[in-house]
Amino acid sequence: MPDPPISFARGAPAPELIPAAQLAECAYAVAEREGAKVFAYGPGVGYAPLREWVADQRGVDPARVVLTVGGLQGFAFHAAEQLARRPGRVLVEAPSYDRPLKILAREGVEIVALRMDDEGLDPDALEAELRRRPEPPSFLYTIPTFQNPSGRSLSTERRRRIVEIAVAHRLAILEDDPYGLVRYEGDAQPSLLDLEGGELVTYASSFSKTAAPGLRVGYFVLPADTVAAFEERAVSTYISPPFLTQAIISEFIERGYFEPNLARVCAELAARRDAMRQALERTFPSGSSWSRPAGGYFVWLELPSGMATADLLARAEAEGVAFVRGQDFYPLASRLGLGSVRLAFSYETPERIEEGIEILANLL
Ligand SMILES: Cc1ncc(COP(=O)(O)O)c(C=O)c1O
Repeated sequence: MPDPPISFARGAPAPELIPAAQLAECAYAVAEREGAKVFAYGPGVGYAPLREWVADQRGVDPARVVLTVGGLQGFAFHAAEQLARRPGRVLVEAPSYDRPLKILAREGVEIVALRMDDEGLDPDALEAELRRRPEPPSFLYTIPTFQNPSGRSLSTERRRRIVEIAVAHRLAILEDDPYGLVRYEGDAQPSLLDLEGGELVTYASSFSKTAAPGLRVGYFVLPADTVAAFEERAVSTYISPPFLTQAIISEFIERGYFEPNLARVCAELAARRDAMRQALERTFPSGSSWSRPAGGYFVWLELPSGMATADLLARAEAEGVAFVRGQDFYPLASRLGLGSVRLAFSYETPERIEEGIEILANLL
């Protein structure tokens, strides 16, 4: 039995993927240079130099960029604001990231799960839902690139169609993209924000996967008319975000550490993804299938028909392997995902990934 247990459950970078020494150097440098400024309250929208860098990367006015305490906190602000402006159901692709589903469920919001396949959210399912119930939804929440939990990416053609549908129906979209830069092969795809321009699309990302999650620095590119209300939510929740961690990221970029670190992280993760794929191919029974991500953290596994994940999880944990059940990524009452598994390959070394997959295969 592996000791410590092998975790395919943690959608987090392994400690060796976090550039701790460089971040420490940046922390000391900014604290010394900027002094009290980075230890004081500041504007609710965050540290100006980092907002400018994000704006430059995304090709937007810095006034539209708000830095948040991680992407998830931003999701909570955005959802609350959007639901206040336009009450209604929230559309999500199914499966989807579990924490936003929990936030929405806690707010008592109706969640409509839309079909997706290997090419991501199905535009026909989106259009059918908008036609079926003409009252406008509050917004669509989507993770088009290296999705959590499935690892899948929305094809470029579908991105264009989804934007066309959104424009035709005046549908607001929240595009959540924390994994887009964590790409191992192939060319970057246009974001929904790029394709639409940012009147209907709000774009969210964070530095959790490209620098360090514990710094808690996320960002939102908002439609211009929603910035003030979003900032007001931030100010009335935490007064101002922590400037020190935002300044650390800014310094990390200034010193030229960001790109080389990202290249290192991508190379490490690609090796982990390959180890998982090869082990699945070598050991898993026919009838099972899995996604083939070109980036991100996750593989989505479908067990042979009739096999229930809940039962497998209990037995796997007894053998020292953890994962998250597929059903946790669907709205609670849907009873979907009962034969699916999310496997994160970000936290374990290639050797332990192989060992963990072999243990799971033996249990099947
Ligand atoms: C799709 C997605 N969005 C948002 C987040 C939140 O990340 P953070 O709050 O660390 O920026 C995660 C984290 O795993 C994620 O997978």
